[in-house]
Amino acid sequence: MALPSINPTTTSAWKALQNHFNANKQIEIKELFSKDKNRADNFKINWEDFYVDFSKNRITEETFNLLLELAEQVKLKGAIAAYYSGETINKTENRAVLHTALRRKESDTVLVDGENVMPEIFAVKAKMETFTNEILSGKRKGYTNKSFTDVVNIGIGGSNLGPAMVVESLQYYKNHLTTHFVSNVDGDHVNEVLKKLNPETTLFVIVSKTFTTQETLSNATTIRKWFLKHAKQEDVAKHFVAVSTNIEKVKDFGIYQDNIFPMWNWVGGRFSLWSAVGLTVSLAVGFDNFNKLLKGANTMDIHFKNEDFNNNIPVVLALISIWYNNFFGAESEAVIAYSQYLNQFATYLQQGIMESNGKTVDRNGDKVNYETGTLIWGEPGTNSQHAFFQLIHQGTKLIPADFIGFAQSLHGNQEHHDKLISNYIAQTEALLNGKTKSQVLDELKDLNLSDSEIKDLMPYKVFEGNKPTNSIFIKKLTPESLGKLIAMYEHKIFVQGVIWNIYSYDQFGVELGKQLATSILKDIKFNNSDNHDASTRNLLEFFKKLR
Ligand code: F6P
Repeated sequence: MALPSINPTTTSAWKALQNHFNANKQIEIKELFSKDKNRADNFKINWEDFYVDFSKNRITEETFNLLLELAEQVKLKGAIAAYYSGETINKTENRAVLHTALRRKESDTVLVDGENVMPEIFAVKAKMETFTNEILSGKRKGYTNKSFTDVVNIGIGGSNLGPAMVVESLQYYKNHLTTHFVSNVDGDHVNEVLKKLNPETTLFVIVSKTFTTQETLSNATTIRKWFLKHAKQEDVAKHFVAVSTNIEKVKDFGIYQDNIFPMWNWVGGRFSLWSAVGLTVSLAVGFDNFNKLLKGANTMDIHFKNEDFNNNIPVVLALISIWYNNFFGAESEAVIAYSQYLNQFATYLQQGIMESNGKTVDRNGDKVNYETGTLIWGEPGTNSQHAFFQLIHQGTKLIPADFIGFAQSLHGNQEHHDKLISNYIAQTEALLNGKTKSQVLDELKDLNLSDSEIKDLMPYKVFEGNKPTNSIFIKKLTPESLGKLIAMYEHKIFVQGVIWNIYSYDQFGVELGKQLATSILKDIKFNNSDNHDASTRNLLEFFKKLR
């Protein structure tokens, strides 16, 4: 079964939402709270160690019901079943989308083209476990018989962002290995990393689903050359492993069969950290913790698959986001995690969300007549409060925000943690309530300002409030809870793609730039600036003079 191809704007639920929006666009969240004493309890989901409060949104009971009706009318339930069961829902690439299978139990059955893929998944997991344990215990050693101290992940996009974000987020659970990530084709990136390494004790993990990516192959080649300045060709086998679907290309590069960790076409790059792409994660925090990450994600998968939509965290978050994106015209969303560990989380989500849902053509092949993918951005709190929060509070743009917090600190510094969480909660309250003229007046009077000074300052000091937020409060940052959180956003992406009637699992939009870069590289090599527009010609000339 393919995904349904329903233009959402043709559904009666969408039309009802439009009318409802027209009649209620001035909606004040503050007023909704004063009218309904049960609002905070009605608009929350308590699930496992997650508490998701979505009451601070511009939604009423009616909005919520209409959004749920929209999900029904675009046949979301059937789409979820197709997603989990290995249907070819990535139609433009003729592939299933099965990152969820990577986190399932061994006894489950998931069929791709009639074949159960679970045994293969568990064979690769077993290989990852053995390899991780041998590296960590020192059983596997480098070419001078020393144990490994460092691991370098060489990859870009989904072959970098997921592992890098998870290693950073789970830093607390890390072992003695020092991890590094080389992604950019910028030679200064690889050289800065190489500066810190001892070839005798460093393991290199080349991660590339296709094994054709310019950045990764350039970095891997440069690193191998550097390695061979110190070691011999036969030592490569001890220090280089690869993760890819393209086994032949990996072998051509000189990686031994035993050192290859396979992955599959039905795992999208940006959803691949759960596969052997997560090898660096497994090495950094141990295989048990990697497995816990997968278990957490699987718990969220089960919740998403089985829970009624009104109590289903990814569905609810996706619907609320559609309400702002498609009716209020909000262009972006912020993700603010009150945890320094999650400082790469927004960057990671940018690929997942924007590479998936940045599409203009619908599943009928027609140009959409409504907005699709949201822009996503963010930085951890409290740092972000001192950077861009001014714009969220008093700027002209509507920026719905997810606030993520953990009730327990990992190092147990309660004094700091209380301060951190007071900021987390305070910001969502400030964004909701704002500051009225009479509150400002009282404050300014206390400062003994004159009436005319108060009058002049007043407009700048008022906060309109009514800024929507979701609070995602989690007991503690653990491999399991991180797995749940990442899977929650993966499923939000899926729901939005289904509703917007687009294909979320291809990424043709990244190809054109890659093609042009290849031809411009030739032009640079052969000193040729013909066949380009005048601006591009000038840039090539400028580079030629100064390189
Ligand atoms: O930039 C496009 C992209 O194809 C991403 O989707 C992918 O994660 C990244 O490049 C890296 O690709 P690969 O793992 O094949 O090297």
